[in-house]
Amino acid sequence: MVVPLLVKDLRKDYLVKGKVTSALRGLSLTASRPMILSILGRNGSGKTTFVKIATGQLIPGSGTVEIFGHDVISSPASVKGLISLVPQECRPWGHMTPREHIYHYQRILGNSREGARDRVQFISDMLRIGSFMDTEAVNLSGGQRQLIVVGMSLSAEADIYFLDEPTIGLDVITRKNVWEGIRYFRKLGKTIVLTTHYLDEASALSDEIAVVSEGRLLAQGTLQQLQNMLDYNTRIRIPAGFAKGSLEPYGKVVSESQYEILYTDEKRVEEIILSAGLLKTRIEIGPVGLDDVFISLVGGSIED
Ligand SMILES: Nc1ncnc2c1ncn2[C@@H]1O[C@H](COP(=O)(O)OP(=O)(O)OP(=O)(O)O)[C@@H](O)[C@H]1O
Ligand SMILES: [Mg+2]
Repeated sequence: MVVPLLVKDLRKDYLVKGKVTSALRGLSLTASRPMILSILGRNGSGKTTFVKIATGQLIPGSGTVEIFGHDVISSPASVKGLISLVPQECRPWGHMTPREHIYHYQRILGNSREGARDRVQFISDMLRIGSFMDTEAVNLSGGQRQLIVVGMSLSAEADIYFLDEPTIGLDVITRKNVWEGIRYFRKLGKTIVLTTHYLDEASALSDEIAVVSEGRLLAQGTLQQLQNMLDYNTRIRIPAGFAKGSLEPYGKVVSESQYEILYTDEKRVEEIILSAGLLKTRIEIGPVGLDDVFISLVGGSIED
């Protein structure tokens, strides 16, 4: 099978008023089969720069991006029809409605009038945006305007969708409508490359997760593979001060506002509860999550 996305050693410097910022410093990552691949990284880690290069909007200093075997940089025309994009910062036209945006976008993509109308209805139903389909964008909320951009992108019949923070500013219910849309395309065998700062979103949707920092890949794998990279598999949340000093022998202790978090091994949980006197307080026990993986990989403390 042709690999949906193959990124090798991508480098990009920005030069502004004599000052160089290295946004990508040898980024490599792969979607080796149709999948939802989430890219996580702190602000400024190079995610949008990567998406711009992969979608042919920006030329890298060096490195390659192949989409289904086509080189994006040397032959952008050959990948144009394969890609759809939600850019990070994109404002719809103020005096057009969501219906008009999606309809005209479909027409630009070459769909017939009837086909475009069908597609508009399909997206309206999928994202559940029927109630404001005929309201001009100027009169919509920020989240509703974001949904126009998401709707336009998902209306395209692409093989790979690059969604750069598609659910930013959306309420929790609306966000899940977008997730349903993303899952629908995944089921059709499409590849979705998603950037997000919502770790619950990445956990819920991703086949694989790539964590980037300072323009490089730190790790890529399934959620389980990333969790396995940690020294501990269990986290226990304990009210601050309750067992101070008695937790250190059992693992790694991190303070988090009102709580202490003990990272430990699940086999030791019973022993910890008994010997640290935790029976007398309310504690939460669970597996390590993507937030623990993220913090551990990008190296900041929770206080950061
Ligand atoms: N047009 C630009 N000119 C100069 N520097 C830029 C430009 N765009 C981005 N940068 C710099 O490149 C680095 C990477 O930015 P990028 O937008 O790719 O990060 P990001 O991971 O998408 O961040 P965020 O999570 O905040 O969206 C940052 O240090 C940023 O300041
Ligand atoms: Mg960005």
